[in-house]
Amino acid sequence: MSEDLKRLAAEAALGEVQSGMRLGIGTGSTAEHFVRGLGARVRGGLDVVGVPTSERTAALAREEGIRLETLENCPELDLTVDGADELDARLTLIKGGGGALLREKIVATASTRMVVIADAGKRVSCLGAFALPIEVVPFGLRATRHSIESALAALGYSAVPALRGGTEPFVTDGQHHIFDVELGQIHDPVAVSEALLRIPGVVDHGLFIGIADAAYVAGPDGVDRLT
Ligand code: 5RP
Repeated sequence: MSEDLKRLAAEAALGEVQSGMRLGIGTGSTAEHFVRGLGARVRGGLDVVGVPTSERTAALAREEGIRLETLENCPELDLTVDGADELDARLTLIKGGGGALLREKIVATASTRMVVIADAGKRVSCLGAFALPIEVVPFGLRATRHSIESALAALGYSAVPALRGGTEPFVTDGQHHIFDVELGQIHDPVAVSEALLRIPGVVDHGLFIGIADAAYVAGPDGVDRLT
């Protein structure tokens, strides 16, 4: 059921893709439906170039016959389509469940528009039930964890950052690690974002604020387009 909804959302976003576009291509199971649908259209004659947000997406896009470029060679994109772990009514997102948040944020920010694709289960009134991913450099992990804890405590959160992968830490495409932090409810995403970005060992976090322009959210009654 959820896979059908993800596919429906991805198909709806494909309606925004036109020949000649430079596309940012997201990561995750919903984005995979978009890549497969895009591949079918490319084989039918659609002419686009894609910049993938992860090695995983790059591999699938290649299999699908989608022409790829690096962001280095193609630094300005028309449209990025990507999934999300949570989205609220203002289209603020939590992303990074799949570990690709840094490239996803760089690619989405390099795009004129970002469109989110999701099943209705991702829609929330307040972000934070999904643990917030925070990408950090491997050097000084314990010190960075301590700084994250203190910064969040100053905002009223008693949260313990959990290193993704535990004793065999998950490694991102950028060779970083990820702490997942359960915040419960994020009433002020900007304050959380600013506090985390002040910590030197933090590379970025999964809050996408003011980046998404629209979302296709698929539920049992059809696909809603949110703006
Ligand atoms: C990867 C992401 C994904 O977009 C997010 O985790 C949603 O994934 P899925 O579509 O599999 O639920 O941010 O870093």
